[in-house]
Amino acid sequence: MKNTNMSNSIYFGIIFSLLVSFSFMSFLSCNSKPPKNSLIAQTQRGKELFQEKCAPCHGVDGKGMKLDSLHIKSKDLTQIKRSRGVNDFPILEIANIIDGRKMIEAHGTRPMPVWGEVFSENEHLDENEIKGKMAELIAYLMYIQN
Ligand code: HEC
Repeated sequence: MKNTNMSNSIYFGIIFSLLVSFSFMSFLSCNSKPPKNSLIAQTQRGKELFQEKCAPCHGVDGKGMKLDSLHIKSKDLTQIKRSRGVNDFPILEIANIIDGRKMIEAHGTRPMPVWGEVFSENEHLDENEIKGKMAELIAYLMYIQN
């Protein structure tokens, strides 16, 4: 369980940066160029990241598809809130699912890549940069909920 404290602080960091982003929203109405860490800028970067890394399995619209090679269907990511019957986007749960490092410790392998590992081991990002990517992906997922 040595990673638990580290992971928790990562996700509190994500929530914190999302909250900071929300507070920037109020600037946007009077500012033509969104600040670098505004929710709009984060959402835009999340969308680009999503198209590059997630769309191959979840579809360009995030609605999911049948994955012949894995013999399963990926999840419809526009229904994260609805499928759980909640009003607030479950940030911590989804961050943990996407990151995956904590879940793999508990359950072994899974069909979706373990993005925390991809970002740290393949792309050599540090924990702060990973936190930033997660915040961007989650900002985008929150934006596409219906
Ligand atoms: C290789 C295919 C693949 C790729 C690429 C992929 N996913 Fe997934 N994803 C899946 C599958 C399959 C599931 C369903 C897993 C299950 O049913 O246990 C899933 C489930 C999820 C879930 C859980 C949804 C829910 O309602 O519980 C989230 C969130 C998610 N993916 C986000 C992402 C994000 C963000 C990316 C890009 C960084 C991504 N996925 C890339 C295959 C993929």
